[in-house]
Amino acid sequence: MKPINQIRRIAVIGSGTMGLGIAQVAAQAGYETLLYDVMEEAAVKGLKTIEENLRIAEEKKKISALQREETLSRLTITNNFNDLVADVIIEAIVERLETKSELLISLALLNDDEETIFCSNTSSIPITQLAKRIPHPERIVGMHFFNPPHLMKLVEVVSGAATSKENALTVYSLAQKMGKEPVMTKDAPGFIVNRIGKMYHTESLKILEEGIAPVENIDHLMEASGFKMGPFKLIDLIGVDANLNVTKSLYEQFHHEERFRPSRLQQQLVDSGFLGKKSNRGFYKY
Ligand SMILES: NC(=O)c1ccc[n+]([C@@H]2O[C@H](COP(=O)([O-])OP(=O)(O)OC[C@H]3O[C@@H](n4cnc5c(N)ncnc54)[C@H](O)[C@@H]3O)[C@@H](O)[C@H]2O)c1
Repeated sequence: MKPINQIRRIAVIGSGTMGLGIAQVAAQAGYETLLYDVMEEAAVKGLKTIEENLRIAEEKKKISALQREETLSRLTITNNFNDLVADVIIEAIVERLETKSELLISLALLNDDEETIFCSNTSSIPITQLAKRIPHPERIVGMHFFNPPHLMKLVEVVSGAATSKENALTVYSLAQKMGKEPVMTKDAPGFIVNRIGKMYHTESLKILEEGIAPVENIDHLMEASGFKMGPFKLIDLIGVDANLNVTKSLYEQFHHEERFRPSRLQQQLVDSGFLGKKSNRGFYKY
């Protein structure tokens, strides 16, 4: 068990859409923060985006120049796996059970003090399954941020079957220190938000596949009816591939319930490399 006042150093694994923003909020909250990615250029790109996010925040007078400088001084990027020794490790890598499990096993070997808390930013993989092969599974906690993590307030703190109450509470407090509004949830497919939110995407994709309306019209109508962002703009922001992986994972976990069936059109975009904003093309061109 690691109490919140003993947390000094946080490592974030995966410097993609989510990881870079999580590293930013960790450093802004005063923690010595490491950002790691298997692709060296992803970590470099991540740091550039964080610098830009902080510049914008300063311009909008949300932070001072000193806060921007101090945040950056607490942040280090690395591509050396052996550097990843920390009090809390948050993984935000690709949404695949096997890949995440292997990463967590390697991290547990490196951090063998039994105290390090391992968090997963998974959108849909059961925390209980991620914890299965890890020594001391009571320290595996879901810490599900929303996109973009430096702006969105919500964090779901997910307890798997083996997660200890103390570690879940520490992660809850950590999210609060990062300026977030955490909620506790049990381990269930899609947790709370993605289980409800998935319908927004799957039904919109069915309307598109049935030729009822084009992408732009569906987005426009949903925005006009009060949603902040149309479903296709949102999928492009999330990542067409990341969003599809979550749908596939929920489809499996709900035993192929029709309402979670992945879309053929979305699969075609992924197969073509049209992954949304991050690749400059998805349902829209950027
Ligand atoms: N995109 C979203 O809107 C969103 C929202 C909430 C949660 N999530 C979850 O966050 C996680 C990351 O999603 P993302 O959208 O940031 O993905 P992404 O594809 O943008 O980034 C993933 C990064 O992880 C790196 N990576 C892959 N395997 C790795 C490994 N073994 N070790 C180190 N780095 C590795 C990749 O090089 C890449 O830079 C997923 O579990 C996803 O379900 C995503």
